[in-house]
Amino acid sequence: MERPNSVASRDIAYHLHPYTNLKRQESEGPLVISEGKGVHVFDESGKEYIEGMAGLWCTSLGFGEERLIEAATRQMRRLSFYHGFNQKAHDVAGALAERLVEMMPVPMSKAFFGNSGSEANDTAVKIVWYYNNALGRPRKKKIIARMRGYHGVTVATASLTGLAANHRDFDLPIANVRHADCPHHWRYAHPGESEAQFADRLAESLDQQIQREDPDTVAAFIAEPVMGAGGVIVPPATYFAKIQAVLRKYDVLLIADEVICGFCRTGAMFGSETFGLAPDIVTVAKALSSAYLPISATIVSEPIYRVLVAQSEKLGVFAHGFTYGGHPVSCAVALETLNIYRERDVLGHVRAVAPLLQDGLRRFADHPLVGEVRGVGLLGAIEFVRDKRTKAPFPPQDSAAALVQTRCQEHGLILRALGDSIAFCPPLVITAAEIEDMLRRFGTGLAQAATEIARREA
Ligand SMILES: Cc1ncc(COP(=O)(O)O)c(C=O)c1O
Repeated sequence: MERPNSVASRDIAYHLHPYTNLKRQESEGPLVISEGKGVHVFDESGKEYIEGMAGLWCTSLGFGEERLIEAATRQMRRLSFYHGFNQKAHDVAGALAERLVEMMPVPMSKAFFGNSGSEANDTAVKIVWYYNNALGRPRKKKIIARMRGYHGVTVATASLTGLAANHRDFDLPIANVRHADCPHHWRYAHPGESEAQFADRLAESLDQQIQREDPDTVAAFIAEPVMGAGGVIVPPATYFAKIQAVLRKYDVLLIADEVICGFCRTGAMFGSETFGLAPDIVTVAKALSSAYLPISATIVSEPIYRVLVAQSEKLGVFAHGFTYGGHPVSCAVALETLNIYRERDVLGHVRAVAPLLQDGLRRFADHPLVGEVRGVGLLGAIEFVRDKRTKAPFPPQDSAAALVQTRCQEHGLILRALGDSIAFCPPLVITAAEIEDMLRRFGTGLAQAATEIARREA
């Protein structure tokens, strides 16, 4: 067999890609990214792009941050690996756990470390099951997630994810997972229904769903404060207050998936603060280390922790943990990331520049292809429609969002098409001038895509 020589041909020959149309990857090959600096990345040919998605909603401090590189190098020299199994510890995991617990939006007790958002949510599910077994409630096991929510790809978390592609032909969802309504007012509200009325209806629908299932079988509700991969869905202002009243009524725990929203993204340290969530369990990943190394955490309340203690005493062990969970090098990078957020007042910066992104995106609201512009903080999306009046979408094979994504990429802007929407989630350190540049490149890509669509539809 001939040895592939270019990066792309070797990649096609040997690399099974995540979240990719594998046939198209074979025929077209990948975009190979070679370097990154600040909010920019560069491909093999040296072409520069604005990373409008912070990679996968994660490189919050941008690329090439020397302090994170040094933190990793220092820690690797000092202690390259240790773990927390069997009563072992190292100083960095403890220090990071303390910082995380202290910064939580509601009082919390302990942080458990994993390596990905999926592992953090999978851990949350296992903790909820273990907790209810310990309390002598073996039937109280169902987890309610939401249509269009995204919580990962492991067997349990892909089941929680409310997107058909994650279930189809993977034999998911597993038992004990249910899905509630998606809180997208623009798409799902009845004619004339206000945001408050829509939130009332969704809370009532959740109440009925729990009653139908039998409250003694419903253990937890998991939610992203703002849905990310489902299309950047910002809930109505009163939604979470109404949902939480229902959860309290039936003694159902709340898991806040802060994997995207955590660490300043929505204009508060956590999305739970922006939208008034008081969770029992919080999961974080991505911006926890600015994605310089893999790390995630599942943070639990004191009442939950006390039950885990009692049950592990009874069983002899809390038999859950990942070899690389709380890896000292990842923890050191995460601690330095949190230091940088504080020292550089990244939250203040996000609050200062977020209106430029939100107002800038809303400048496209009158465009004939644009159905809705939505977002909060440095998170946004534009949803395209074939018919502005009826909100009729394009057929999936003629997705406007996918075409806009391609044209923007040609004009040096990496964005992500999610169904009919195109998402924006730039590094948190993006400057005002870079936001303008991003919007300008988007405008060029959109105009070109719109011309092609008009020609196609004519
Ligand atoms: C809200 C949310 N939860 C969980 C995950 C899963 O994280 P990971 O891909 O690190 O497993 C993601 C990933 O995008 C996410 O956006």
